Amino acid sequence: MSVPVLIADELSKHYRVSRGLFKPPATVQALNGVSFSVSAGQTLAVVGESGCGKSTLARALTLIETPSGGDLMIDGIDVARASRAEQKRLRQDVQMVFQNPYASLNPRQKIASQLAEPLVINTALSAAERREKVHAMMAQVGLRTEHDQRYPHMFSGGQRQRIAIARAMMLQPKVLIADEPTSALDVSIQAQVLNLFMDLQEQLGTAYVFISHNLSVVRHIADQVMVMYLGRAVEVGPSEQLYQRPLHPYTRALLSATPQIHPDPSRLKIRIEGELPNPLNPPTGCAFHLRCPHASEQCREQTPRLRALEGREVACHHAETLL
Ligand SMILES: Nc1ncnc2c1ncn2[C@@H]1O[C@H](COP(=O)(O)OP(=O)(O)OP(=O)(O)O)[C@@H](O)[C@H]1O
Ligand SMILES: [Mg+2]
Repeated sequence: MSVPVLIADELSKHYRVSRGLFKPPATVQALNGVSFSVSAGQTLAVVGESGCGKSTLARALTLIETPSGGDLMIDGIDVARASRAEQKRLRQDVQMVFQNPYASLNPRQKIASQLAEPLVINTALSAAERREKVHAMMAQVGLRTEHDQRYPHMFSGGQRQRIAIARAMMLQPKVLIADEPTSALDVSIQAQVLNLFMDLQEQLGTAYVFISHNLSVVRHIADQVMVMYLGRAVEVGPSEQLYQRPLHPYTRALLSATPQIHPDPSRLKIRIEGELPNPLNPPTGCAFHLRCPHASEQCREQTPRLRALEGREVACHHAETLL
């Protein structure tokens, strides 16, 4: 087993939010003690409904925001205790790809110069060397090098996401965080972009944290899957285990929400009833109990902790009964 390049230990992020003039501010626990590790060349998929804390996690991992608690180690460096020089290196080592490539690219700058920018800032390469690297990366992500003098609007959505991926990869980061990188794309393009992510990982050995609200999207790219609900991990483990035998009722519900060409009649169809609870006022006990078909008295009172079961970790009091 290789050494992890990214280790999150009990990572949390709380936001203070105002509730109006006469009420005291409240706290949203957007991320509530999340732990995982990712090795070089491996992909952790982070999955959950809107508002469960996926982008908050992405912002903490890319050092855009400081966590409220917990530890983050990137390539052996403790982020909270990193020197200025180490922080600069970490900012190169962790890159991000966003959902909307148009928003992350400058509409008024030719793509050759946008792709060269990270090299201008962080390396001493000559203009000719930079040009060579930009062209090599364009070819690697499936873009035609003769299009390097075009502006972002002159590309299709899928091509623009390729440009954003190329830009994130220019400095050969150790870790890439991708926050819903295919959900703004046409379905026919999504698979191509996912394949590009996988090809690049094979060539460059980058560790990925791949965020999606859809378990089926990440099925082929994920080595590990972490399912999140209201700021917590409810099931974490190798993707074969999770897909073949999901143990948390929420993971099951997410999986059975995905349309299948050949539905498995033995797999019970579970519908998630109701909406995600208000994060300002989370339910007592298990945060999922209000929507869970298996909820008992214990679930209303005790918050389940993650525990090892059947080759993964699951936070459910009744996981055994679902085996
Ligand atoms: N800057 C902020 N200030 C206050 N609350 C915030 C802030 N950022 C996020 N939140 C809250 O934290 C929770 C998690 O938000 P986050 O954006 O991480 O969810 P998400 O899983 O990325 O959702 P989506 O799938 O919609 O992108 C939400 O309840 C959100 O309202
Ligand atoms: Mg988000």
